[in-house]
Amino acid sequence: MKIAVTIKEVREQVNEWRKQGLSIGLVPTMGYLHEGHKSLITCSVSENDRTVASVFVNPMQFGPSEDLESYPRDMDRDAALCEEAGVDLIFHPEPSEMYHNGFSSYVDMDTLTGGLCGKSRPVHFRGVCTVVAKLFNIVMPDRAYFGQKDAQQLAVIQHMADDLSYGIEIKGCPIVREADGLAKSSRNTYLNKEERQAALVLNKALSEGKKLIEAGERNASKIKDTVTEIINAEPMAKIDYVEVVNWSLLEPVDNIDGTVLVAVAVFIGKTRLIDNFIVKADDRGRVYVS
Ligand code: PAF
Repeated sequence: MKIAVTIKEVREQVNEWRKQGLSIGLVPTMGYLHEGHKSLITCSVSENDRTVASVFVNPMQFGPSEDLESYPRDMDRDAALCEEAGVDLIFHPEPSEMYHNGFSSYVDMDTLTGGLCGKSRPVHFRGVCTVVAKLFNIVMPDRAYFGQKDAQQLAVIQHMADDLSYGIEIKGCPIVREADGLAKSSRNTYLNKEERQAALVLNKALSEGKKLIEAGERNASKIKDTVTEIINAEPMAKIDYVEVVNWSLLEPVDNIDGTVLVAVAVFIGKTRLIDNFIVKADDRGRVYVS
């Protein structure tokens, strides 16, 4: 496995692979890798001849009062995990390599980014779209892998890839959870012992929402109310949002119909955690929840 720090090195390597007719999978990450990232890498390794993982804490997607400085970093550990999982090339640039002096071009989106996480993180998706667009241009992969835990990000990237005709297959991979149900996240490391326990309320509330839908409930407000009540019963939790939206445009729905995302963002102490599930209702009223 190679580690490249410049765009030039990555281009040389991927050009070489392309000449050999090899397919390339890209797993974009901000490092501090966990089982969730590993599952994306494993998926890419199984579907492509070569896998590139990027490890870059992207300053552009953090707001001024967010956790850019304290975001956890451990490149040695990340490199070991990548190597073990079968990554062929890590791209680990400095911010100055990605954003040269005078950088002033952005990828922005008029739809999908205003609600959910976009409401409390107004610059976030512009930063995500810009860095992912750059990574797509640098690596030019056949497929790129994103976790369903960041469901809005997955929908936004799918939309961007389509709008900008990248011709890259965007693959969403299932949420990976701790044994007690907490969705894996690099930010879980911020939680102290009591907060870690309190954080279980996200999955607990969403599981009750799922149960209601599986029992036949189709009224979005009822699902939202149940999830909200359970989270509010946890004294350490403060809701940022509980939303039931359609998958196509991430707009609020009245009924569970078609493909619907049930998503929450909750502060546990100072740490903001997100979790969700996706429901697919078919025309015979049967639902599939993931
Ligand atoms: O999901 C993440 O870790 C980041 O938002 C991504 C996609 C790597 C872009 O910086």
